[in-house]
Amino acid sequence: MNAIDMAIRAAAANITLNDVTKAYDTETVVIPPMDVELRAGEFTVVLGPSGCGKSTLLQMIAGLERVSGGKILIGGREVQNLEPKHRGCAMVFQNYALYPHMSVFDNIAYSLKVSGMAKAERIERVGAVAKMLGLADYLSRKPGQLSGGQRQRVAIGRAIVREPGVLLFDEPLSNLDAQLRHDMRVELAELHRRIGATTVFVTHDQVEAMTLADRILILNKGRIEQFDTPKAIYHRPASVFVAKFIGAPPMNILPVTGDGRVLRLADGQVAAEAPLTGAYQLGIRPEDILVSGQAEGRAVTSTLRFREDLGSHAILAAELGGSVVRIATPFGVDIPDHSQLSLNLPPARLHLFDAESGRAMPGVFSAH
Ligand SMILES: Nc1ncnc2c1ncn2[C@@H]1O[C@H](COP(=O)(O)OP(=O)(O)O)[C@@H](O)[C@H]1O
Ligand SMILES: [Mg+2]
Repeated sequence: MNAIDMAIRAAAANITLNDVTKAYDTETVVIPPMDVELRAGEFTVVLGPSGCGKSTLLQMIAGLERVSGGKILIGGREVQNLEPKHRGCAMVFQNYALYPHMSVFDNIAYSLKVSGMAKAERIERVGAVAKMLGLADYLSRKPGQLSGGQRQRVAIGRAIVREPGVLLFDEPLSNLDAQLRHDMRVELAELHRRIGATTVFVTHDQVEAMTLADRILILNKGRIEQFDTPKAIYHRPASVFVAKFIGAPPMNILPVTGDGRVLRLADGQVAAEAPLTGAYQLGIRPEDILVSGQAEGRAVTSTLRFREDLGSHAILAAELGGSVVRIATPFGVDIPDHSQLSLNLPPARLHLFDAESGRAMPGVFSAH
């Protein structure tokens, strides 16, 4: 570990939000009171649809937006009234505007120069950061002479050169093409393993969330739907909102009615046994549905509508009980179009949600 790695690791701070709220005007509350604790050194991904308050949350931590109420603590210190530069955070944006007329070195060194650091130390720090980010050979180039990925790395270098204990990212990869996004994801994960800064990474991309996060915080209209590990979010979604936001294709959700003994689909077919009465939503992931012949047990009948072959596997879309369900099947399973499909819904793979609130009802099926 070099000096920069060690300095950032030492400075990693936990972030606590107590009753933090944000309203831009009296009518619209963007963030209702929020309590959350981000552990020192943890990589948190804030995930949610556009407009749910992700950037607002990040900017309140950074100090670029004021809180309307509540407290923010970084490393145990109350910061909600401090200037951004006194909070020990560094931020990387989607539109990372580098200074086009300055070299890579000067771009990275800029904040150090402004803070009055001596030249020899600046050279040493920028050198260490550039080496860490694979930019050592590009220090004299201008941003216009770099690839998109290299420019993004310069933006990250500029953020970490001040040795922040907290790194904040707001959709930093959205402007990159697919291959570069993937490469940058791997680089960011590697960077985090090395420097261990407390990281908050905002995105609307579930793949980034699943692959980067220690824990994912899912926001829906400014409220926390679930805050847990990627595995728990995928396998034990706390609500229909989470279940439908994660997974490609997402979890199938079917309305069912209980008669005290079984849960029936809208067309009367029995989907599962459960001693429940009333209306519920039943969830099952595409890869958990078995096309008949693959398993024993209760089967329901559906009609195949269309299929998409993805090479590694196929996605079937079938009509079941008035809904369209998606089924992921291994490639090579030969299923003719418009055929009747007999489907198994293994009870251990079922998720049950309240019909109205959409909250998960753990314990009914063994998936929870
Ligand atoms: N400066 C502002 N003034 C008024 N409303 C704003 C302002 N910034 C954001 N909003 C509103 O707050 C909500 C959350 O925005 P934002 O945090 O940018 O969402 P996200 O980053 O999740 O897409 C949106 O409804 C947006 O219109
Ligand atoms: Mg945003």
